[in-house]
Amino acid sequence: MSEDRVTLNAVGSATELDLVPGTIGDTGIDINRLRSATGKVTLDFGFANTAGCKSKITYVNGEEGILRYRGYPIEQLAEHSTFLEVAYLLFHGDLPTGDELARFQSEITHHTLLNEEMKKFFDAFPKSAHPMAILSSATSALATFYPALQNPVDPYAVEQSALRLIAKMPTVAAMAYKKSIGLPYVYPRNDLNYSTNFLNMMFSLPVEDTEVDPVIARALDVLLILHADHEQNCSTSTVRLVGSSRANLFASVSAGISALWGPLHGGANQQVLEMLAQIHEDGHDYKKAIARAKDKDDPFRLWGFGHRVYKSFDPRATILRNFTHDVLDRLGADDPLLEIAVQLEDVAMSDDYFIERDLYPNVDFYSGITFRALGFPVRMFTVLFAIGRLPGWIAQWKEMVEDPDTRIGRPRQIYQGEVLRDYLPVTDR
Ligand code: CMC
Repeated sequence: MSEDRVTLNAVGSATELDLVPGTIGDTGIDINRLRSATGKVTLDFGFANTAGCKSKITYVNGEEGILRYRGYPIEQLAEHSTFLEVAYLLFHGDLPTGDELARFQSEITHHTLLNEEMKKFFDAFPKSAHPMAILSSATSALATFYPALQNPVDPYAVEQSALRLIAKMPTVAAMAYKKSIGLPYVYPRNDLNYSTNFLNMMFSLPVEDTEVDPVIARALDVLLILHADHEQNCSTSTVRLVGSSRANLFASVSAGISALWGPLHGGANQQVLEMLAQIHEDGHDYKKAIARAKDKDDPFRLWGFGHRVYKSFDPRATILRNFTHDVLDRLGADDPLLEIAVQLEDVAMSDDYFIERDLYPNVDFYSGITFRALGFPVRMFTVLFAIGRLPGWIAQWKEMVEDPDTRIGRPRQIYQGEVLRDYLPVTDR
């Protein structure tokens, strides 16, 4: 065995497989020739041991609780950067100069309006529609307004699609919310920054402008930064997989939004708040929630706990724990659910079940409490995650399209069904 190869001894034959090192982190075993060389495939539920791509965007070290976008630690970006600067970083690979940032911000600002015909689209949903359903459908529908931008291998079309998506997603989200509460839509304003404009569309009324508190706007911006990318998670892998068929960026992102909606992924932030509210209602009975989470016959999980990659702590949760306290203090607010969250974390972290399985609070455990403090209703929490994750989805999709090694995503299977049967007419069965 050489240093850049491993030998696989598969039934009767030895196969040399190349090693693919990362600049940091995991080294891969290249199994591209595995099936042709051995006649065998790999079986890896949930792709827990499989790298689906080579990437230069985000580095996560689950053992040490490290998260970096393009090499920059998440802690530094959350403290010093803005969401749009991070979006630029993810897309282009480097932090922008002052001029580049000003141009990027201006382009985003000038694409925030939706085509007026989209209003009819919102009107068609029932008032009770979950905003994630509207967000996913509206994102797919947006593609129909930009037929000239759908060529995934045209860099100009990709950049223009990306700008439009980042610009319009908050407008779509705010309209989905206004629709759900039966209030008129509020148009975007070009004199406001990204997060302030979104908060204004969410909470102002056409008859009455509400001044957005800069503390709230900055807090939202930080939350969006914390969600901006997380390498090959379920929704990002979905975006890449859909895009690998050369589906356009709007369609691919729409699929990612649907994947994010699930309670094991982004939908967990809504579940966490509902769980904390239930514990509050039950008179702070933590034991009940912990016992249910441990019961294998109960589908309930301790929402906001556990992670496929983080096995020590989730650095986003660590930032958020302090940040949530800080935001509540600065807003002069008090939330009994924050106290419940802190106590629940303490109880879980001294319980063998959670210790043995390396289950720590993840980003969703504290984000909901901050979103609530900023005035967002629970059903909008996963939408906020989607707005935050959008630049990551776009950057990963672009990287996938530009990678000459990309092939259409098409896994194999181990077939375990009936081998061959003769069809019987219904009267003979
Ligand atoms: N509560 C109770 N038990 C849990 C939990 C939990 N939150 N998470 C994992 N486990 C148990 C699981 O039952 C299994 O136990 P056993 O070994 O006895 O069968 C063991 O821990 C390993 O869990 P797993 O489901 O095999 O791990 P996974 O890597 O496939 O899943 C996860 C990761 C995040 C889906 C899972 O931890 C989970 O469901 N957590 C709750 C939902 C959640 O908070 N999701 C947000 C994730 S972070 C943000 C994001 O990606 O959206």
